[in-house]
Amino acid sequence: MTIRPYIVGNWKMHGGRASLPEIAAVANAAAENGGVDVAICPPFTLIDAAVAQSDLSIGAQDCHSAISGAHTGCVSAVMLREAGAGFAIVGHSERRADQGETNADVRGKASALRGAGLGAILCVGETLEQRESGDAEEVVAAQLEASLPADGRGDWLSIAYEPVWAIGTGKVASPAEIAPMHARLRQVLVLRYGDEGRSIRILYGGSVKAANALEILAIPDVGGALVGGASLVAADFIPIIEAAAAIAAQKGAGQAA
Ligand code: PGA
Repeated sequence: MTIRPYIVGNWKMHGGRASLPEIAAVANAAAENGGVDVAICPPFTLIDAAVAQSDLSIGAQDCHSAISGAHTGCVSAVMLREAGAGFAIVGHSERRADQGETNADVRGKASALRGAGLGAILCVGETLEQRESGDAEEVVAAQLEASLPADGRGDWLSIAYEPVWAIGTGKVASPAEIAPMHARLRQVLVLRYGDEGRSIRILYGGSVKAANALEILAIPDVGGALVGGASLVAADFIPIIEAAAAIAAQKGAGQAA
């Protein structure tokens, strides 16, 4: 089974109207690299303007688990859909740490997105302390099990493995760390969703950039990348899209052989 790579930019709390041409440039690169699914998640305030820029897939960085209600400052999945977003990131480690989001919260948010007909990228990852204690795989597998929505079947759900110690630090997990983690997370998905768990994309995130994208995307069962810092400027992000296209061509050729 060939899974199309998925390259997603997470702008976090960066960018303004002046950044919109970056989205147009990324959209052009996405059109030229048809074998890759590409998306950008700008701040909420830019979603509708980003959607108007091009036909690039635009996502949000979070959503609330309720459809509406007395939740000052929050945004629901239905509101995101109305703004033109096609999906949202949920459970990013910065939100788990800064906003105290629990696995149950993340599960609720993913289910809300599903209910609104949107996609979700569900993030999991271990801290440095957990990595050094030697049980990162079990910690992250347990986090995923507890965060997964009841129905992950279909192509609406993706997972992002993002070691907390690799986010925004310039430190990248090695292939020897990434490969067994993705294999472990795949087991969790198959156990939960049966055969359909095999086609859920598991992205890697954490200091992905042009210089390391080829190596990371070539790792078995890495289905794409969630990119923070290197997604803010099209000139940095586009080489990652191109690396994914090259790897997809290689993997496709390998399967045809
Ligand atoms: P980074 O962020 O690429 O800047 O490390 C990744 C993320 O947090 O999604």
